[in-house]
Amino acid sequence: MTRRSQGGMGQTQSAPGENAAACHRLTSAPVELQVAASPVSPPLLLRPWRMRDVAALVEVSQDPALRRWASSVVDTDAEGARWVQAQQRGWAAGNRFCFAVLEIQPGSAGEQLVGNVVLKEVTSGKPAAEVGYWTAAHARGRGVAPRALEALTNWAFDTFAADGLERLEILHQVNNPASCRVAQKSRYDFDTILPAAPPSFPRDGHLHIRRKSA
Ligand SMILES: CC(C)(COP(=O)(O)OP(=O)(O)OC[C@H]1O[C@@H](n2cnc3c(N)ncnc32)[C@H](O)[C@@H]1OP(=O)(O)O)[C@@H](O)C(=O)NCCC(=O)NCCS
Repeated sequence: MTRRSQGGMGQTQSAPGENAAACHRLTSAPVELQVAASPVSPPLLLRPWRMRDVAALVEVSQDPALRRWASSVVDTDAEGARWVQAQQRGWAAGNRFCFAVLEIQPGSAGEQLVGNVVLKEVTSGKPAAEVGYWTAAHARGRGVAPRALEALTNWAFDTFAADGLERLEILHQVNNPASCRVAQKSRYDFDTILPAAPPSFPRDGHLHIRRKSA
């Protein structure tokens, strides 16, 4: 296993034009995915990151758990803006699809940033791609990550069926049981132990896989 990304805050490595078919299908309007309310949480909206999210991104990025597990850290507005621009380049290139996850608050309270999900390493003709996720500290423990991941998974298999996408993978380190639990709850079955690859992946990891037919 050579890949060692995790958590969904990595930088995009775009190869423009790499996934032209998907680009063509996705350029007409920003993708928005809606998730119904749960007994403990309002509805979710997943949509591509926008520059207006930068302040909220910087704020939630102060959380130590996010800083520990995300593959890049955002400390300032300038870093946040660069990160959002990188996600926008991923959408434009058609190989990385990163969604801000927002809770739709009842009444006039509007939307609140609660997380991130990403589909990455999408290449036409390649059967596998990877997903990642994080939830803002203030929103953890009420199923935001698995609900958002379910929406992302269904969208990915629907959108990239014609490109040959057959399975989605989650990689997490063995000492991240919360991420393991999200994978299990989202029907990404444990597949393999991955050997550590320091410095970016200092501990052994788990590979979880969800197949299109699951
Ligand atoms: C992992 C993470 C995304 C979970 O998000 P969430 O929206 O809180 O997800 P959930 O509400 O489903 O809660 C997580 C589950 O893990 C469990 N969990 C949390 N901490 C745990 C721990 N230390 N040991 C075992 N299980 C744990 C919770 O009990 C819950 O399972 P349950 O519903 O069966 O009780 C969130 O903790 C996070 O953002 N962590 C930092 C970033 C990260 O690790 N990303 C993944 C990198 S691979």
